[in-house]
Amino acid sequence: MSWGLKNRLARIIRPETGRAVMLAVDHGYFLGPTSGLEDARTAIEPLTPYADALMLTRGVLRSSVGTGVGAPIVLRVSGGTSILSELSNEGITASMEDAIRLNVSAVALSIFVGAEHERQTLLSLTQLVDEGERYGIPVLAVTAVGRDMVRDARYLSLACRIAAELGASFVKTYYCDDFERVVETCPVPVVIAGGKKLPEREALELAHDAVVHGAAGVDMGRNIFQSDNPVGMIRAVRAVVQDNASVDDAFALYQEGVTVQA
Ligand code: R5P
Repeated sequence: MSWGLKNRLARIIRPETGRAVMLAVDHGYFLGPTSGLEDARTAIEPLTPYADALMLTRGVLRSSVGTGVGAPIVLRVSGGTSILSELSNEGITASMEDAIRLNVSAVALSIFVGAEHERQTLLSLTQLVDEGERYGIPVLAVTAVGRDMVRDARYLSLACRIAAELGASFVKTYYCDDFERVVETCPVPVVIAGGKKLPEREALELAHDAVVHGAAGVDMGRNIFQSDNPVGMIRAVRAVVQDNASVDDAFALYQEGVTVQA
């Protein structure tokens, strides 16, 4: 691993804690105008001071994020499908040269282990790792899960380990029972996605359980930007991940600023 690659990774996963709060706002690449992100600039701007990294596409980065943004960028570079098509049929959607022009700290690509186009997505990962190694850019492998796939430790450890074996610098997956097994069998850091919107306390419990069981943090989207208090929620998630706050203390942070309905 080159100095540059390690340095970029250390911008995302804080060396002091070994953890990261990544804000995932890349959903539009296959979902279109996702609820909560219809106006990307307005949604993202107030959250960036609390994020260790922003995960998004180059289109939203160029159109909706100011060049003065402090948070490192994790650029989604896989896609080519929509929610209406076969999701695993992804390819690489941005070149490494463009990623460098955009001054990103990492690139992200989904792998679809066990899906129709598994091979193509795994080979795209290896291509990206080769290019990333050339320029010192870390690759985040996202273990995408098909509609019919069970998100259990057996499957997720298979997908995470394959990603690491193929050279990913870090991996994003889902939290599951027996999550330690996923982390312990994956030789690179593992962060978790938040998944569908949950009640805020449950989302904080998810983040808490994940880091307690070995996750290097979260790459969370809907449970933050679809909250009724997105800033309170990202501050709460940050308290759990970076400050080891209890769920109760974090939930209190979320509640600051929530308007109680009469
Ligand atoms: C999905 O493929 C996207 O990469 C999202 O960034 C990811 O699912 C994390 O977002 P959420 O916390 O909303 O699941």
